[in-house]
Amino acid sequence: MSIHRKLSMIIMSVIIILPQSSKSAVCPPRDLIIPCKCANYFNLIECTNITSDFDLKKIFINLKNELDKQHARPVYDEFKLVQTQLEHIGSIDDIFSGVSFRRISLSRNNRLKRIEPNAFNSSHNVTTEIMIEDNELLGSNHNDNIGLFDAISRFVALNTLHLTDNGIRFIPKYAFNRSQPALRQLFLTDNRIERIEDYAFIGLNAIELINLDGNHLNKLSLHSLEIKNTTQSLLRIFLRSNKLQTNAFPPGIFSYLRRRIYLNMNINNLSQISQNVFQSFFKRRSILSVSKNPLKCDCDFKWLLDQNIVYNSSNPNGDYLLRDYQCTSDNDNHDRIINGMNLDDFDHCPESPITQTLKQCFSQASDEEQELFCLNRNVNDRHLGHTILVITFFFICFQKLLVFF
Ligand SMILES: *[C@@H]1O[C@H](CO)[C@@H](O)[C@H](O)[C@H]1NC(C)=O
Ligand SMILES: *[C@@H]1O[C@H](CO)[C@@H](O)[C@H](O)[C@H]1NC(C)=O
Ligand SMILES: *[C@@H]1O[C@H](CO)[C@@H](O)[C@H](O)[C@H]1NC(C)=O
Ligand SMILES: *[C@@H]1O[C@H](CO)[C@@H](O)[C@H](O)[C@H]1NC(C)=O
Ligand SMILES: *[C@@H]1O[C@H](CO)[C@@H](O)[C@H](O)[C@H]1NC(C)=O
Ligand SMILES: *[C@@H]1O[C@H](CO)[C@@H](O)[C@H](O)[C@H]1NC(C)=O
Ligand SMILES: *[C@@H]1O[C@H](CO)[C@@H](O)[C@H](O)[C@H]1NC(C)=O
Repeated sequence: MSIHRKLSMIIMSVIIILPQSSKSAVCPPRDLIIPCKCANYFNLIECTNITSDFDLKKIFINLKNELDKQHARPVYDEFKLVQTQLEHIGSIDDIFSGVSFRRISLSRNNRLKRIEPNAFNSSHNVTTEIMIEDNELLGSNHNDNIGLFDAISRFVALNTLHLTDNGIRFIPKYAFNRSQPALRQLFLTDNRIERIEDYAFIGLNAIELINLDGNHLNKLSLHSLEIKNTTQSLLRIFLRSNKLQTNAFPPGIFSYLRRRIYLNMNINNLSQISQNVFQSFFKRRSILSVSKNPLKCDCDFKWLLDQNIVYNSSNPNGDYLLRDYQCTSDNDNHDRIINGMNLDDFDHCPESPITQTLKQCFSQASDEEQELFCLNRNVNDRHLGHTILVITFFFICFQKLLVFF
């Protein structure tokens, strides 16, 4: 690049930056907003040691008056509320007097229980990042938990959300039902989340990461992961260190999540990767990581080998969708840990025509209804199989009886 061009670019950027910085918010005299502080350089308002919404309201009325006097825009880059004694944000209308923030950070407020849905109403179309961290009581009450997600779903420009290490118990039904077209990363790590209700993430059509590591999830309902698939990029979902067992996933759950995903379920309590649940998942070439689970490599594992989903020692460089697994085999009456499987390990397993039929049915299915049809048919086939077995049994008994007489 020529010096000339560089120079003109620098001048251009100065011209672009200048008018904006002259309009942006300024710091008022210190005592107007005490105990909050304002940092000009970062364009930040930081408040600690606040005991009530009333105090906050007074501070922001002063701040807004001062901004009006100076004809400055009431927009700050960041608002931090740290280690306050607040229990409730938004119990008074319009506490921020129309001042808005591009980034909101609420942390270590040990008494904070509730954020009113409209508390930050002037920031709803401005804020791109929210960090709500380490507020141990936030979300522990049922209605406050619902109110919290209602508040968050109103930020239409949100890009990243950290809701980590709080007291959140569940993700409510339709929690993210509004359109938040910029929301790409969602961290819900280290809460006490026991369940995700149906359609919780339904509106997040650009989401790329959902991190639920370190929670108490033990069951997911059929529509809990349903998202409208407006983007085709890989969606990463982390469910490490939860309490998920094999029956935590209802068959059909991945038929309603019509995206390719990377799912990490390390450190859970899965003993099987069942075909009824995961055929739809692997059909989209989604990737599953399952280290540190008590998997059993019994005949229920064979479908994964048959479909080249699990490592096959004859073809070590294959691109396998099931990763980081370890399973134990109790073939020889003592547990043996296996990292890579061979067809030999399944010599004793009966051929199961049902697994083939299920695979074919799924590969022809073009929407979730058709995939669910495959699952229902499979259940019926199994019932039919049982019925035939029972009839055969009685037939044989009957023959034996005849011979006997
Ligand atoms: C918090 O505020 C109270 C009075 O409002 C004051 O006595 C106390 O020193 C303040 N604490 C800190 C850490 O600023
Ligand atoms: C926020 O709410 C207050 C009253 O609750 C209202 O006066 C104000 O206009 C609202 N602001 C926006 C941007 O909706
Ligand atoms: C955001 O909301 C403010 C009112 O609070 C409004 O003046 C502004 O036009 C809105 N911006 C966009 C992009 O919608
Ligand atoms: C989202 O859900 C809430 C509560 O369930 C409801 O009041 C609201 O109308 C819903 N919004 C949309 C866009 O569906
Ligand atoms: C959603 O997925 C289905 C099936 O994979 C596809 O036919 C459809 O075009 C997708 N919709 C969008 C908006 O990408
Ligand atoms: C793991 O699952 C088994 C049943 O598969 C159950 O008996 C056991 O209690 C579970 N362990 C934990 C730590 O949840
Ligand atoms: C394992 O890999 C070999 C070599 O690519 C292949 O011939 C064999 O069919 C594979 N086994 C299974 C069960 O897919």
